[in-house]
Amino acid sequence: MKASAEAPCKAIITGEHFVVHGAWALAAALNRKVRVDVSESARFNVRSEGFRVRRNAVLPLAAVVEAMAREFSFKPSLDIHVSSGVPDGAGLGSSASTMVALAAALSKMRSLRLGVEELVDFAMLGEKVVHGRPSGVDVNICARGGVILFKMGERPRRVSLKRPTSFIVVFSGKKRSTRALISRVSSMKERYAGLFMGLTEAASEISKLAAAKLAEGDMEGLGSLLTFNHAVLSAVGASNSYLDGLVDTLLTMGCRGAKLTGAGGGGSVIAVPPRGKEKRTVSELRARGFEAFEARMPVEGVRSWLGR
Ligand code: MEV
Repeated sequence: MKASAEAPCKAIITGEHFVVHGAWALAAALNRKVRVDVSESARFNVRSEGFRVRRNAVLPLAAVVEAMAREFSFKPSLDIHVSSGVPDGAGLGSSASTMVALAAALSKMRSLRLGVEELVDFAMLGEKVVHGRPSGVDVNICARGGVILFKMGERPRRVSLKRPTSFIVVFSGKKRSTRALISRVSSMKERYAGLFMGLTEAASEISKLAAAKLAEGDMEGLGSLLTFNHAVLSAVGASNSYLDGLVDTLLTMGCRGAKLTGAGGGGSVIAVPPRGKEKRTVSELRARGFEAFEARMPVEGVRSWLGR
C-alpha cells in the first residue's frame, strides 16, 4: 500500500524570531511544495529528490514515524520518499512541510483520519529534533495553508484576503542553521531583557498591522511594515551584510518593501513588488543572477491521497 501527501512551503511575512518569545507572527503558504510518499517496507528507509537527505535529516522523520507508530500500534518500518520544490536551507520551511506531509501520508495510509491539529502535533515532534525550540508557526502554516496570524498558546487566526495577491521570494543562496540563529537572537534577550521585551511587543504590533494591510490589499502599507521589520531583525542579529544588501537592491528596483524571511543569516528575502510589475521584477532579478519566484496567495494546505 502506498500513500502520498503534499504540503506547501511557507514564508514568514512578519514576526519571526520574536514569535519564539511570545509575539504574533504573520505567515503565508507558498506555491512551492514538498511531497512525501510512504509505502510498506521491511526496514526504515528514506530516499529523496530535490535535496540530499543527510543523516541528521533522517532523525526528525524517524521521530514522527515512531511517535505515530507507538500511538496507533503499527510497525515503523517504511519506505519514505521525499521530493522538495525548494532548496534545503532556503528559509522557506521545507523541513516543516516535510514533517506535515509525512504525518498526513501516514494518517492516510493507516486510515487514521487525523485532523489538522493532530497532524501539527506529530509534525512538531520532528521540528523539535531539527530546530530545538520552534514556535510552531512553520508547521501550522504548512498544514493549514492560506495566511495565518500565529501566537504560541493561541488558536491560529486565518487572514482572509479581499483578492488574491502576490509577493516575490529571492533565495540568497546561503544556507544557515535555524537552531543557531534562534539561539543567537535569544542571547540578545539575556543581555537586554527590557529592550528585547519592547521589540517583541513591536514585532507583535507589526504582525497585526501587516495582517490588516494584507487583508485589505494595501500592499504599499504592507511593504513599509516589511522594511521596518527587517530593520528590527537586523538589530537583533538575524541579518547580515549580504541580506541587508539584497533588501537594498530590491528597494532600489522599486519594490515597496523587503525583508529577510524565516531564521535569516542566509535563506531568503521577500519583497512587495512595484504595482503590476511582479513578473518583470522576477525576470530582472533572474537576469541579475538571483533565483527568484512570484509567490501567489492564498495557497491550500496539506492534502493526501492513496495509491499513484
Ligand atoms: C523560522 O521559520 C521562524 C523562527 O521564528 C523560528 C520559529 O518560529 O520556530 C525563526
